[in-house]
Amino acid sequence: MYQNRPVLILGIETSCDDTGVALYDGAARRLLGHAVHTQAAMHEAYGGVVPELASRDHVRRLVPLARGLLERAGRSAHDLAGIGYTEGPGLAGALLVGASFAHALALARGIPAIGIHHLEGHLLSPLLSVRAPRFPFVALLVSGGHTQLVRVDGVGRYALLGETLDDAAGEAFDKTAKLLGLGYPGGPELSRLADAGTPGRYRLPRPMIASGDLDFSFSGLKTAVLMLVRGAEPNERFFADVARAFVDAVVEVLVAKCARAMEATGLTRLVVAGGVGANRQLRGALDAAAARSGFDVYYPEPELCTDNGAMIALAAALRLAKGAVKGGPHSFTVRPRWELGALS
Ligand code: KG4
Ligand code: ZN
Repeated sequence: MYQNRPVLILGIETSCDDTGVALYDGAARRLLGHAVHTQAAMHEAYGGVVPELASRDHVRRLVPLARGLLERAGRSAHDLAGIGYTEGPGLAGALLVGASFAHALALARGIPAIGIHHLEGHLLSPLLSVRAPRFPFVALLVSGGHTQLVRVDGVGRYALLGETLDDAAGEAFDKTAKLLGLGYPGGPELSRLADAGTPGRYRLPRPMIASGDLDFSFSGLKTAVLMLVRGAEPNERFFADVARAFVDAVVEVLVAKCARAMEATGLTRLVVAGGVGANRQLRGALDAAAARSGFDVYYPEPELCTDNGAMIALAAALRLAKGAVKGGPHSFTVRPRWELGALS
């Protein structure tokens, strides 16, 4: 029957250092498959992402990754109903690779290419989980580039409640990891090292925890770690204790602000998304706070916390279903800087 026909959406993510592709069936509301090629190893030698290298690698990876995904799913480009791609924010050159590919294929197939806001992808990503939240909810977006609390009333209905005034949480993780001699990106390694540290051996500040609003600041924390590390004899035990102090401070601030956001909005569902949302210590502390305060927390699958094409395919499918997508000529632009609040 016509109603049961799949509505296949190809999702493409190339905003930073991960090439992500995914195939989502909007009719069955099911992810058929996804694949990510991460460039982390390529950038590690530089201690951070080198934009030109990132763009060139997306060019190399994108077509074979998309072709392999379609083949594994037993589909072809002829089966696609639309293509979602990350339009911004992100690195201009990297975004252009995904946007050009999406528009070229869409033009060839006569289907819409749907530009998606990267953070919209992240904050809708828990809808891909078996245990998916209903609207409305509060979303904590914690990635390498962003730390925001957003009220989500539906697709395209986002209100910013608070955000970081300086470094993002993931950026603080990465910079602190670097100070402790760990690789890039440092979040997961720093988190593992913290597990071996003694709680309370060092106490770092909890920036803005009592500011009364929903904003964050993490750059002072990184400086506090620098002071600690500078004055001391470096050894493994010391680094583990510092890592523990850092993780405890970040987690306590994030949890306190989430609890305040739930109280301020009166909502009962919290969604956590973005790379730092994969952090085990954060998840443990949020679950405990939720049990205490009577709200529910929803996470994307761990592999869908960091950048991926699945969240972009999902957001594109939801926008297509909402009728919020026009066909039209395939002229396009990318938006390296793009406020989430500007979306509708
Ligand atoms: O969402 P994402 O993949 O990319 C951006 O859009 O930024 O997030 C990447 C960030 C990096 O800063 C990385 O260190 C951090 O997420 N991250 C973690 C963990 N896994 C990834 N931070 C803490 N603990 C983790 N387990
Ligand atoms: Zn991201």
